[in-house]
Amino acid sequence: MTAAKRSKSKNNLDLLRWYGEMGVEESTGEACVDRFSPAREPRDGDEKAVDAGVAGRKSPSPAPLFAVEEKGDDTSARIESCRTIAELVGILSAFDACPLKKTATNLVFCDGTPTARVMIVGEAPGRDEDLQGKPFVGRSGKLLDRMLGAIGLSRHDEDPAKSVFISNCIFWRPPGNRKPSEAETLMCLPFLERGIELVDPDILVALGATAAQRLLGTTKGIMRSRGQWSTYKTPHGKTIAAIASLHPAYLLRQPAHKRLAWQDFLKIREALDKTPKIDKISGESLS
Ligand code: URA
Repeated sequence: MTAAKRSKSKNNLDLLRWYGEMGVEESTGEACVDRFSPAREPRDGDEKAVDAGVAGRKSPSPAPLFAVEEKGDDTSARIESCRTIAELVGILSAFDACPLKKTATNLVFCDGTPTARVMIVGEAPGRDEDLQGKPFVGRSGKLLDRMLGAIGLSRHDEDPAKSVFISNCIFWRPPGNRKPSEAETLMCLPFLERGIELVDPDILVALGATAAQRLLGTTKGIMRSRGQWSTYKTPHGKTIAAIASLHPAYLLRQPAHKRLAWQDFLKIREALDKTPKIDKISGESLS
């Protein structure tokens, strides 16, 4: 063994030992990561720290471990058969295939009003969300609530015209708040897609690069894709108006960019005011 190899292997051993001391008991990633390779891709943590700028960066694209369809059971059919968010939560609670579930405390699927005109999708639960089982309840969630309040919306309002429904691309906290892998977002996607279909919002808001890329199919960085109206197409072919904005966690780190998010949120308000408010159940006007 060369001196270089010996030193690398010692570094890896030290890292493993450190993981052990920190209480890490199992690996939840689907691919080995050589943390000491000079040629390695940026670390998940690196990317999370610059969420607003990640979309233009090349991120690793591992083949999904398996998609829901390939599990050999009828998960897809059961997702499809859900008629309410509560039923979807039931299916998701019994879904054990996502490795993130093993290390998470709670399932974090949604909060808000399922009849809301606006649906918000973030990235993944953090520590507070994991503990409470609800999305966006930590510091970034408090900021999100203030941003929504500023345009007359609240997750606690039951009036569809004033409420929002909130979810994420991932429904279990990634260990250490790392950025979710593509395989993880793909595994959760059928549940999110069905959730969007059931809520059937007038406007879908993707917060941060992960949601913008996964839902709006953009490859542009979030700084370039934010604030532009685009569309989200449901698996059954319905088109929903969609817009990306900056993730509140990023805004907490870069408060100067709150003015950009404010521009985006004003666009959402303007679009809500322009389009007729129709009660999705009765078909009657809400305005
Ligand atoms: N960040 C997210 O993207 N989602 C949450 O639920 C919390 C923080």
